[in-house]
Amino acid sequence: MNDLLLRALKCEPVPRPPIWLHRQAGRFLPQYRAIRADHSFRHLVGTPEIAAQITKLPIDLLGMDAAILFSDILVIAEVFGFAFDFSDGKGVRLKEPEAEVRRDVRETLSYVAETIQLLKKDLAVPLIGFCGGPYTVSTYMRRTTPEWLEMITTATIEYLQMQVEAGVDAIQIFDSWAGKLDPLDFSTLALPYLKKIVDALRPTGIPITLFCRGSTRYIKELVSLEPTALSFDWEKEMHELRKEVPAHIAIQGNLDPAILKGPLDVLQEKAKSLLCSMQGERGFIFNLGHGVVPETPVENVRWLIEYIKVTEKG
Ligand code: CP3
Repeated sequence: MNDLLLRALKCEPVPRPPIWLHRQAGRFLPQYRAIRADHSFRHLVGTPEIAAQITKLPIDLLGMDAAILFSDILVIAEVFGFAFDFSDGKGVRLKEPEAEVRRDVRETLSYVAETIQLLKKDLAVPLIGFCGGPYTVSTYMRRTTPEWLEMITTATIEYLQMQVEAGVDAIQIFDSWAGKLDPLDFSTLALPYLKKIVDALRPTGIPITLFCRGSTRYIKELVSLEPTALSFDWEKEMHELRKEVPAHIAIQGNLDPAILKGPLDVLQEKAKSLLCSMQGERGFIFNLGHGVVPETPVENVRWLIEYIKVTEKG
């Protein structure tokens, strides 16, 4: 298996940085859009054979160094009776439950474990499992209270334990909106719940990456949780961040997705500058600072992956 990602997560020396992209399995790929044209998003996510096929698309077509499970941070809401889907042009829709329910996590989300098991049979790169941060999930559920944050956290821990048992090689927690909170709210609504998850998963030894938009404001707090890695957006230069994050914690990022969209010469210049600025640094994973946008030309992504790969030494 190509284990560059796992070695970079451990801050071991690597011949070149591994590269994968947030939202790489999604809408920028015509092959994804073709599959999606005939089915709802929920159907794709909930059918292990299809979800596994979509997870592999970017690896097979473009050669990223890691696969991220094709799913969504909002599937956990099904445990509480919410139904989710994404209708074209209408954005996210979580349907309120008719009655208060609390379903069994492993049973409700067994399709995720099945997808992981299918993928692990023949995937040649590490598989990243994921969940949403409780704060971010609670905002989509419109339930941001201590009681709900606690319930979402407990369900999330069980959900991640299930993913680890099914075979994922690493975990990423997307607390996308937490970085936008003011310091007091960040320390009460986001951080304690992230800590519970990281602490609960630590005994499994699984590498855990934390991602929040705007996380450069909360480096000290996030470092205090002792995650394996922190994923950053483009608010600060990566080589500056390397100095602020202790050497045993890997860092991931942070090309602006708007740059990946093109023009190509600007992308080439920025990617080169980011890569050069991190030369010789341990624990660096090349990624975007947020998700690939749907209008991104596939050719730009192909160029980027190839560019990172030709820098391999020895
Ligand atoms: O990264 C991947 O390619 C793997 C799968 C993945 C999806 N969503 C698939 C998806 C991952 C890791 C996510 C994470 C996610 N989902 C986040 C955190 C990361 C971030 O971008 O901040 C959040 C906040 C969500 C919630 C969500 N899901 C929104 C707001 C939307 C609608 C807007 C959008 O981005 O498309 C989704 C839908 C969604 N999730 C799609 C995909 C491929 C598009 C569904 C479709 O085809 O209509």
